[in-house]
Amino acid sequence: MSLIEWDSSFSVGSERMDADHQRLLTLLNRLYDAWHGGEGVDELGWLFDELLAYADTHFAAEEMALKSRNYQRLEKQQTDHIRLKASVIDFRNRYLSGDTPTVLTEEMTQFLKDWLLQHILGEDMLYKDSFKGE
Ligand SMILES: [Fe+2]
Repeated sequence: MSLIEWDSSFSVGSERMDADHQRLLTLLNRLYDAWHGGEGVDELGWLFDELLAYADTHFAAEEMALKSRNYQRLEKQQTDHIRLKASVIDFRNRYLSGDTPTVLTEEMTQFLKDWLLQHILGEDMLYKDSFKGE
């Protein structure tokens, strides 16, 4: 069972960005499934690497695409992206220092879900017009 399914209402007007956002949804759903299946502990390790790699490549691509279009809210995008990365690093540090994995998994699931809905459906949706006609 998935926590959130991607549908066209998530589209931000760019195929590349949509594909990246679907990847984030997949990671979130895997975390959710693992947690509900009782495998949350084992699943956390790889997730930090995946999320940090995702943050580096996707955010860089998104910021570059927006910069080349002289997008006005680029700074807000960068702030949101830095915050997500800092939070994931924070979760990873808690994991490495032995914080209860089941609590961490639940907190991360909630955090990623909130971030995804607020950032993608809120902030990212505002740049949809910048990709119009491409
Ligand atoms: Fe973004």
